Amino acid sequence: MWKIGHIEIKSKAILAPMAGVTGHPFRVLCKEQGAGVVYTEFVSANGIIRENRKTLDMMKFTETERPIGVQIFGESPEVLAQSAKYIEETVKPDIIDLNFGCPVPKVTKRGGGSAILKDLPLMDEVAQAVVEAVSIPVTAKIRSGWNNGCIVAPVAAAALQDAGIAALTLHPRTTKQLYTGEADWSLITETRKAISIPLIGNGDIRSAQDAKRMMDETGCDAVMVGRRALGNPWIFREINEYLNQGTIPDAIRLIDRVKLCHRHLYMETQAMGATRGTNYIKKHLSWYLKGFPGASAYRQRLYTIMEFGHMDAEINKIIEELEADHELANFSYREEGPLFPNVPGSKDNY
Ligand SMILES: Cc1cc2nc3c(=O)[nH]c(=O)nc-3n(C[C@H](O)[C@H](O)[C@H](O)COP(=O)(O)O)c2cc1C
Repeated sequence: MWKIGHIEIKSKAILAPMAGVTGHPFRVLCKEQGAGVVYTEFVSANGIIRENRKTLDMMKFTETERPIGVQIFGESPEVLAQSAKYIEETVKPDIIDLNFGCPVPKVTKRGGGSAILKDLPLMDEVAQAVVEAVSIPVTAKIRSGWNNGCIVAPVAAAALQDAGIAALTLHPRTTKQLYTGEADWSLITETRKAISIPLIGNGDIRSAQDAKRMMDETGCDAVMVGRRALGNPWIFREINEYLNQGTIPDAIRLIDRVKLCHRHLYMETQAMGATRGTNYIKKHLSWYLKGFPGASAYRQRLYTIMEFGHMDAEINKIIEELEADHELANFSYREEGPLFPNVPGSKDNY
């Protein structure tokens, strides 16, 4: 058990905020597998204070997801503070997280996301304003800095701690790096020395062993997993068991994987409606259904389907086929390949 502010957290493995991925259904699935904290994707502070319906919908969650953090982005201390207060009063999450790591030009060119790492006094002002505005813990997520000539993580971390931030997540890549190269874990070690608040290490965790190695090498208090959780909520169970007992649970069987796809389809269609949910689930299906013999044929069968009833029936059919083929149904595999997507930082993507 460890804490962020007064919030008790049962696991040291945290689900990363991921735009277009970590909606309510996926957060529930990761929570069920043992994620210690889950976060919403980044939500616009401006959209919140304007009470934009779509923005407000992005913050909906259920009690089973607690402890949950709502992540906000913006550039104005006043707007961020006002939106945090609004969230505390109406959405009532456990944590507010400040996004100081987004590398997407749409956000950084206005001074938000990781652009704030070029203006530490403004970062400080934002953090202080938000901490003052709410009574729940405020956390922040940063990158190393803007580029190789401007690595600020340890200094920014110390300033954020002084501003009253309750815990910090560091993804040690620069903004300019997007997702290229490797996350520089030595910066997590350096940042650990600069602060005493909980430090959450993030970047390139591909397995339970990596999670432990990051904690051992850097001294961080917890780890945050992003891309390895795509199509793989079981990673949290694996990390927890490995950290607690030194063992790794059996990999999930193909039939259970497909059954989870089915359940996830129902959850998404319930959350966003039949047509949108059916279309949206396809990217999750493409992450769930890879790495086993015949995976691409399964994906192709599902990828062209536009209608919920048809998708529902087709997944049921696959489950029936697997039930008739014990060897394939019991085929189990663990995600171990390279992280996907490798470079999601295009203009429109995070
Ligand atoms: C599709 C996608 C969306 C993301 N959206 C967010 C976001 O909304 N807020 C945020 O702070 N980070 C976001 N990130 C960054 C992740 O939280 C994480 O820092 C990054 O993926 C590195 O961790 P990993 O190597 O475990 O994937 C996103 C990453 C991906 C791949």
